[in-house]
Amino acid sequence: MSSYKLKKTDGDTSWFVNDRFGMFIHFGLYSMPARHEWIKSLEEIPEEKYEKYFKYFNPDLFDAKEWAKKAKEAGMKYAVLTAKHHEGFCLFDSKYTDYKSTNTPFGRDIVKEYVEAFRAEGLKVGLYYSLIDWHHPDYQIDLFHPRRADEDAFEQNQGRDMAKYREYLHNQVREILTNYGKIDILWFDFSYPSKEKISDNWVNRLALSRYKEWMGWTDKNTWDAENLIKMIREINPDIIINNRANIDQDIFTPEQTLTTEWMKYPGTDELAVWESCHTFSGSWGYFRDEMSWKTPEMMIRTLLDSVSRGGNLIMNVGPTSRGNFDYRANDALDVFGEWMKVNGRSIYGCTKAEPEFTAPNGCLLTQSEDGKRLYVHMIDYPYSELIMENIADKLDYAQLLHDGSEIITHQRGNNRLAFDVPGIKPKTTICTLELFLK
Ligand code: GLC
Repeated sequence: MSSYKLKKTDGDTSWFVNDRFGMFIHFGLYSMPARHEWIKSLEEIPEEKYEKYFKYFNPDLFDAKEWAKKAKEAGMKYAVLTAKHHEGFCLFDSKYTDYKSTNTPFGRDIVKEYVEAFRAEGLKVGLYYSLIDWHHPDYQIDLFHPRRADEDAFEQNQGRDMAKYREYLHNQVREILTNYGKIDILWFDFSYPSKEKISDNWVNRLALSRYKEWMGWTDKNTWDAENLIKMIREINPDIIINNRANIDQDIFTPEQTLTTEWMKYPGTDELAVWESCHTFSGSWGYFRDEMSWKTPEMMIRTLLDSVSRGGNLIMNVGPTSRGNFDYRANDALDVFGEWMKVNGRSIYGCTKAEPEFTAPNGCLLTQSEDGKRLYVHMIDYPYSELIMENIADKLDYAQLLHDGSEIITHQRGNNRLAFDVPGIKPKTTICTLELFLK
């Protein structure tokens, strides 16, 4: 049994830490300009201009079953879809707004089709809900808001009533949790309590340059997060909630970074359940001209970086405004699919290796929860020999994972082993050794 003890939280994370790998889906009006999901804020687009996207939103190639099939084939076990992103547009038939997919030429409830299709494939379903809302007339104008640079931004902000917005937010969260069956994850995004708390990525740098003294911040009180969470738990006690409503809940969600250590649950000595989230390229929403896509090695490595430190990975796809995945997203999913088909058992039900094991140079380790299998992921493929310390007395049998071929070992000094790996790297994105322990 793994010796790592996780901090117990209210939601049920037992399936989550087993499944390890999920699909994030960012879909909304911003898929049409195809220049980043923050486009309304980045280009400070006024409401009348943004309205065009609403008027023509019609993802005619959208097929939730196809999305679900692709997620499953890629080895993903759960998904999280943006029910509403910062632009405020809802992919569900909310009775509290007209700004929703059912009122566009498309006319369909995307959340409904999504939950049904993903459940039918046996995947767990999550919803992302943006706390921020750049469409709602009562949402404050602040440093991220598209109207922040208007000369009369201050005047425009007068009379905006965040209490009304809060009510809207609570109502909508109730809707998505009651109208679509059991939702497994609620993924909030995000709070920015002060300048110091804003992380240093480019979006935030840009926003900070717009900051004015009168502008407000957002923390748990802005959302009345305590009551919000109370309501959510009443509807569904098991649901997994992330930490971005500014109250620590079940999971922590570092974004676009390589986590080097398993984080502790704040204020305790216990380990937290965490999930890193990444994009294939630089943006979450479909970005036509963004060409800096991760290489296959980087993609698999991103997954291994998480699991080898006790975390999950949720990898994002931004469907095109026609509703399908473009060729780059499909190719990227295939990379995962091919690798996971043969290497999946080094991921599912696996976690960080016990402290008694040290990863050889250029390798990452994962270990099965029952402790019986140890995986050595050779990120830097060695030349014909892989040396590992403190393993000789524990090893029963070794093989390459992707083809189950035996790996012969040689004792090299005190408790040190040399594994005779093939001289040429086998044709697999990252080659993994499977060690059966005594
Ligand atoms: C962010 C961004 C966003 C994205 C998200 C995913 O904070 O605002 O566009 O949806 O993180 O983690």
